Amino acid sequence: MHLHIEGTLEPELAFALAARNGVTLPYATEDELRRAYSFSDLQSFLDLYYALMAVLRTEDDFADLAHAYLARAEEQGVRHAEIFFDPQAHTARGVSLGTVIRGLSRALDAAQETYGITTRLIMCFLRDESAASALETFEAARPYLDRITAVGLDSAEVGHPPSKFKEVYALAREAGLKCVAHAGEEGPPAYVWEALDVLGVDRIDHGVRALEDERLVARLVADRIPLTVCPLSNVRLRVIDDLAAHPLPAMLDAGLLVTVNSDDPAYFGGYAHDNFAAVRDALGLDDAALRTLARNSFEASFLDEATRAAYL
Ligand code: HPA
Ligand code: ZN
Repeated sequence: MHLHIEGTLEPELAFALAARNGVTLPYATEDELRRAYSFSDLQSFLDLYYALMAVLRTEDDFADLAHAYLARAEEQGVRHAEIFFDPQAHTARGVSLGTVIRGLSRALDAAQETYGITTRLIMCFLRDESAASALETFEAARPYLDRITAVGLDSAEVGHPPSKFKEVYALAREAGLKCVAHAGEEGPPAYVWEALDVLGVDRIDHGVRALEDERLVARLVADRIPLTVCPLSNVRLRVIDDLAAHPLPAMLDAGLLVTVNSDDPAYFGGYAHDNFAAVRDALGLDDAALRTLARNSFEASFLDEATRAAYL
């Protein structure tokens, strides 16, 4: 449920697409690129994440990107994937929204056929862009809303509180979409409150900083608001010092509906199973805890009630 499709761009595919599209990357080799994957915070990652998107130009590129991700997801035991994409990061480069959605959709449909993996698409607004730009993006997406399940909010968090996007979230809800938002990754608990009370989100993406506010934890527990936690991401972006100190066990103990996710797996050292294995090893989670985490994902998903019930 917390997977940015642009964050699944592995160096091999980045170089292949660069060659296909005549784009020059500022790295000579895949190894040199991989060595750049050392981040001090969210922004240092985002700089590279947006720069590499230059190789994504055509419908085929987006289909190839999503196809490669879904093949890996299948290998990792994923049965259902709710996938973020960042339309503004592409339209700003002259790539149309239709190109992005048609390319992704083609791969998603094929994965259902080939692997039986079900998917949903979540369109994210870049919170460091203006509220007007988010509104423009939402209006441009209206012809494609049958392919979009939810809206989300990502990119540089601090200084861009959820309340900035109140209007576009109201429109999304009116149009029957679900709502999620990144909150409490680098930003304070107040941003999680705003995501809940101003945007009316159905899930919080990350939310690890919610633990700093007891009243907020009680609210998240009482309303069974899912948190899509990304352990390897938290370590790579220095949200958490090291995995052994991750608050995931404390979150489970608090009764939060917490799930394990990979965020930007090409950059952070692992896909879904890799994140489960990492928390098992670093935190000593037993099979019962791992099972709870997996079940939580289905409970938190936007699958219809009957399909969800069948997984639980
Ligand atoms: N946080 C915010 N924005 C993002 C992330 C993230 O973890 N990944 C891709 N865009
Ligand atoms: Zn994310």
